[in-house]
Amino acid sequence: MALPKRVRIVDVGPRDGLQNEKAVVPTDVKVALIEALAEAGVPSIEATSFVSPKWVPQMADAADVMARISRRPGVVYAVLTPNMKGFEGALAAKADEVVVFGAASEAFSHKNINCSIAESIERFAPVARAARDAGMKVRGAISCCLGCPYQGEVKPEAVGYVARLMHGIGVQHVGVADTIGVGTPRKAQAAMERALLHYPLSEVSGHFHDTYGQAVANIYACLEMGVYQFDASVAGLGGCPYAKGATGNVATEDVVFMLDGLGVATDIDLDLLVDAGAYISAQLGRPPVSRVGRALLAKRGKVFV
Ligand code: HMG
Ligand code: MG
Repeated sequence: MALPKRVRIVDVGPRDGLQNEKAVVPTDVKVALIEALAEAGVPSIEATSFVSPKWVPQMADAADVMARISRRPGVVYAVLTPNMKGFEGALAAKADEVVVFGAASEAFSHKNINCSIAESIERFAPVARAARDAGMKVRGAISCCLGCPYQGEVKPEAVGYVARLMHGIGVQHVGVADTIGVGTPRKAQAAMERALLHYPLSEVSGHFHDTYGQAVANIYACLEMGVYQFDASVAGLGGCPYAKGATGNVATEDVVFMLDGLGVATDIDLDLLVDAGAYISAQLGRPPVSRVGRALLAKRGKVFV
């Protein structure tokens, strides 16, 4: 199969990335990062999460972040909403899109959202209904599709099972997530195939953490299947507070560099994206994790010690 001509990237750095920082990241810095990503041409940004501040203190300023960003027309600003309380926050904040997040592993579901897979679907159903009534798109993320930090192996059938349940309650899109970055290309394809039993190609995406350095290869494997939507995180920020040791999502700079090289359009300006990655990395006091970001900054004369 020919590769897609165009790929849509959701930058999840402000959410997936910053949720995992130990030190408090000031709201103004989050806002500046989101605005820099939009400026670079990123079409969709996961801006924050309306989750319990006791569980994830970094996202406690969700409403403030959403209120302070100046929105670029055409850019989708998405937020995570695990339940109706989260949805109400998202609605009040005028988010464009909401994301419910479940898991293909029971153990991870309990650790991350304090309920079983079946209970999570019961919580998501009213969110999906309310989102659709409000004219907001609702996406679903399925964690641990390629392995679980608590349970170990996860079978592709488990991905299909959760995708089917999400589809049944009206979730419009499903993201296949490798939370701990252990997946390899054929495994990524097998999980994606299961999601594709329930969703069309236009409504699936890949979300690959890069803990073991496999994420770009996994994306390429999915491109070969025709998948054309991927999450990525500027500067390679992040991880998941409930998956110890897992590093960030694949760096957006690395994905865009690969896609540029393949002649696949993203509409993202790599130089401006590198600026956004350099900005947030400087704020966090470390060099960007992105190999491409570091290489391009080195070319500009920036030296990392
Ligand atoms: P719970 O304790 O079972 O919920 O948590 P509860 O309904 O019993 O409520 C307990 C307290 O939380 C109450 O407050 C609620 O009001 C409050 P209290 O009476 O004790 O003062 N509460 C909330 N506050 C704000 N916003 C809300 C909300 N809901 C309840 N939405 C819950 C269940 C889901 C809320 C909790 O487990 C939680 O917030 N978990 C968040 C986990 C999280 O954010 N994880 C990281 C994001 S997922 C991820 O990174 C994976 C992904 O990237 C894909 C991948 O890589 O795998 C998407
Ligand atoms: Mg993630």
